[in-house]
Amino acid sequence: MRIGVDYYPEHWPKERWLTDARLMKEAGFNVVRMGEFAWVFMEPEEGRYDFSLFDEALEILARHDIAAILGTPTGSMPAWVARKYPDCAAMKPDRQRRNWGIRKTNCFSSGTYRLLSERITRAMAEHFKNTPNVIGWQTDNEFDGNPCYCDSCRANFQDWCRAKYGTLDALNRAWGTHFWGHRYGAWNEITLPEEQHSYNPGLWLDWKRFNSWLQVQFQRDQVRILREVCPHHFVTHNTMSFHPSINYRDLCADLDFASWDNYPVFGPPQILYNAACAADLVRGFKQKNFWVMEQTAGPGGWGAFGRNPWPGEIRLIAYQQLAHGCDGMLWFNWRACTAGREQYWHGLLGHDGLPLRRYREAAQTAHEFRKLWPEVEGTTVRAPVAILYDYDSIFAQESQPSFENNTYIQDHLRRYYDALFRAGVNVDIVAPTADLSRYAVVIAPQLYVLPDATAHHLAEYVRKGGVLVADIRLGVKTETSLCHDRTLPGLLSDTLGIVIEEYESLTGIWGAKPSEYRVVGRRDISGTFTAFGFADWITPRGADVLAGYSDRWHMEPFAAATRHRSGNGWGYYVGTILREPEFYDQLIGDVLAKANVTGILRPPVGVEVSVREGAGKKLLFILNETEQEQTIAVPSGKRELLSGQLTESKLTLPRFGVAVVKLA
Ligand code: GAL
Repeated sequence: MRIGVDYYPEHWPKERWLTDARLMKEAGFNVVRMGEFAWVFMEPEEGRYDFSLFDEALEILARHDIAAILGTPTGSMPAWVARKYPDCAAMKPDRQRRNWGIRKTNCFSSGTYRLLSERITRAMAEHFKNTPNVIGWQTDNEFDGNPCYCDSCRANFQDWCRAKYGTLDALNRAWGTHFWGHRYGAWNEITLPEEQHSYNPGLWLDWKRFNSWLQVQFQRDQVRILREVCPHHFVTHNTMSFHPSINYRDLCADLDFASWDNYPVFGPPQILYNAACAADLVRGFKQKNFWVMEQTAGPGGWGAFGRNPWPGEIRLIAYQQLAHGCDGMLWFNWRACTAGREQYWHGLLGHDGLPLRRYREAAQTAHEFRKLWPEVEGTTVRAPVAILYDYDSIFAQESQPSFENNTYIQDHLRRYYDALFRAGVNVDIVAPTADLSRYAVVIAPQLYVLPDATAHHLAEYVRKGGVLVADIRLGVKTETSLCHDRTLPGLLSDTLGIVIEEYESLTGIWGAKPSEYRVVGRRDISGTFTAFGFADWITPRGADVLAGYSDRWHMEPFAAATRHRSGNGWGYYVGTILREPEFYDQLIGDVLAKANVTGILRPPVGVEVSVREGAGKKLLFILNETEQEQTIAVPSGKRELLSGQLTESKLTLPRFGVAVVKLA
């Protein structure tokens, strides 16, 4: 297994490099990533290349059996680029160019910047293609889909629209430009939406798609060169998992595997739901195993900073990713830098460069991972449940969230995800158009943009025996962000056995006081819950009512949650948001029972389980994410690989402890 650190030799005197390499080797590290912010060192002035700093560093690393992933350095342009070529700087909506002096300030449609990007990529690729310990590439750094408002971007967007719609008539129809008399008579009349609130929703959705597409194209130029010059190297990118402005599935389509940057330690210790969920999303980008290109090594922040990982947490966080399908891992970063904006984004080593507690814990983890690797290699997560994650719905909802504080990713999707985590069931997070036949359960939170073909795909999934759980804002919009002109939930009405003739936001707008409704379980769900945020007024048309409204006379006729037998499967619908996680635990319990899915074990709260399997092997990872010792009922007579012991019927884990049980 490849495990190591993000390393910046340009931060340190050369005399230190040997010590660094020696300490890395002793820690069990065998890979570094470097170079992604070093453009000015490699091309100090236009067309003059100098790779000597990295040649020397690579040579020292090679002597210590450490391989390297090189970053194309386009995430931070040299000062000379900004000085010579002002069009390389992105423009803000007020048409001021972004100031040079931070990073990621480039315009992605600038022909100059794209040319300079291709040149440095080619020069690096040519120079390092035969360096024996260079094994792969990371493109740029954390593409984020952020827009630029310059004339070039505007012209490119107009071209993109023309290529997509062909005729202005088609575009006018698709966006519904009769509203406010916003019909276009020429392509160059199309302007860019300066903010998300007031512009045409169709224009907005395509603008988001365009910016995502533009960065995918930018990366593609680099990937093409890397493939041509370095055909034996892998190419990846360090995504930001749930970052909502770029379609990472599209970005990763051009790569060998997806990677991501994991920073779960800022506030007090908590159950690591979010990092688990992000890992499952990233594994879904290519539906294969992934790398963590930046893994939490210490307190992080650019001014004020967060908490130090407590003893055991660095190891726990690393094991969690391994458990979710991570096949390569690098800590960010090796050593806290003494200069620059990230002085307080701490590394395994502090400013003093001494190999202390965090280093030792990472070293222990690396040695364990490499020992485990023969058991882990070739395995992946085979989840029985999929959650659908749809970029179009996210892009569209950014400008029309339907209700205040509609925090889709942080909260909404996680309500279902966390309940599955507590049930000990692995989850894949995939596109609505993915092959769903391998999943016993599919959950579609706020699937807002729903082309007819996808609605048919979901109906067909249920008809053939799948269990679908959908909820609020399902199928409201067409592919171009017009409202469907059918009674909700439109084409899925029969599948779900309901109609929704009316709906409302419960948050109110413009400072109004939010309201809440009381919900009671009626069938297979018991207890009293609080509905907030949004409410569909659901009329069952054949569906069982699992929960209804109980404290407001006008809501009594309507269902809050339903279940419907359709073909060989089941269609569930949740028409509101429930404050109590207990609701989702019960719902997921019922869903899993209908789908005949059982987790290997039901862990105590705060203990996570995940299974990796394949190549005839099956490993159960058990992670104690609490500060208390936990005792877990496990299958007995199996080998626990870290202790080498056979399991009894119960296994006890210390705080932040982990176990890897070989089931097969
Ligand atoms: C990441 C980024 C790194 C570093 C780190 C800490 O998002 O890729 O370059 O900036 O955050 O701030």
